[in-house]
Amino acid sequence: MTDQVTAATAPVAEEVGRMYDRMTLLAADFLGAEAAHGYNAHLGYWDTPESEFTFEEATDRLTDVMAERLRISAGDRLLDVGCGVGAPAVRLARRTGAAVTGISVSQEQVARANELARSTSLLEHVSFQRADAMRLPFADASFDSVFALESMPHMPDRAQVLREMRRVLRPGGRIVLTDFYRRPAPAPDVHPLRRTMGSTTAQLDEYPLLLRAAGLRFTEMLDITDETVHRSFAFLAEQAERMRLKLENPEATCYFNPQAVIDAPLLGYLLVVARRPERG
Ligand SMILES: C[S@@+](CC[C@H](N)C(=O)[O-])C[C@H]1O[C@@H](n2cnc3c(N)ncnc32)[C@H](O)[C@@H]1O
Repeated sequence: MTDQVTAATAPVAEEVGRMYDRMTLLAADFLGAEAAHGYNAHLGYWDTPESEFTFEEATDRLTDVMAERLRISAGDRLLDVGCGVGAPAVRLARRTGAAVTGISVSQEQVARANELARSTSLLEHVSFQRADAMRLPFADASFDSVFALESMPHMPDRAQVLREMRRVLRPGGRIVLTDFYRRPAPAPDVHPLRRTMGSTTAQLDEYPLLLRAAGLRFTEMLDITDETVHRSFAFLAEQAERMRLKLENPEATCYFNPQAVIDAPLLGYLLVVARRPERG
């Protein structure tokens, strides 16, 4: 399989939305009450190999590592692109006082995320809606910052999404995102995503160019593979084992045991920070 993104291989937003609808319903079955209280649908971050964080703590830690770079404060308007079931947005609103708008292509996720917001005292500060990052339904310059935690791998066209992010950002506003990138493979047909999860991987050196082409300024790029990928996938594989996943259910396998579909040694993880210039 090649990861050259073409019209034939690019993820399709509606299909990704349906995949997350089904995964969200499956998660409710598998996780029960935990799912009702929101969960992070992203990798964990352990600062050092000695860190004793649980997977759950480490997933919050990744949200916090990104939040430190957003530089938002009370009253700021933050857009969360690809919000999952809302746990990162609620955490960001609670810790910063910012007003957070989350979007997802999955109606089921949006419904859970709004339930989560209702169950907190943050209803006025956090809201979720179904929308496609390729065509953001927001006015120009309507946000102070944009956050995208692990949603970029699903985007049909990274360049178009970055242009849309720039458009809705105020001049000087920041974007903080994470994305998968592919590490060198021993042979061209060895690929980090063995079966489709509606995802593609970026190239390590692609971001500065993509950002510049979208009219953004490159600020920072960190390779956080060592802090995230291996421990997260080890945990997810163990969890799948503990839950005695019915492996004949391919959707459940993808969601709870990504190790079955991802060649973790070939998968890299990037944290990227950019900003919209004050002028232009
Ligand atoms: C791996 S999940 C991450 C969810 C959330 N950020 C979290 O960390 O818990 C990817 C998210 O991206 C969203 N997504 C994928 N394609 C999208 C698109 N074209 N527009 C908006 N959201 C999209 C999915 O619906 C899902 O919510």
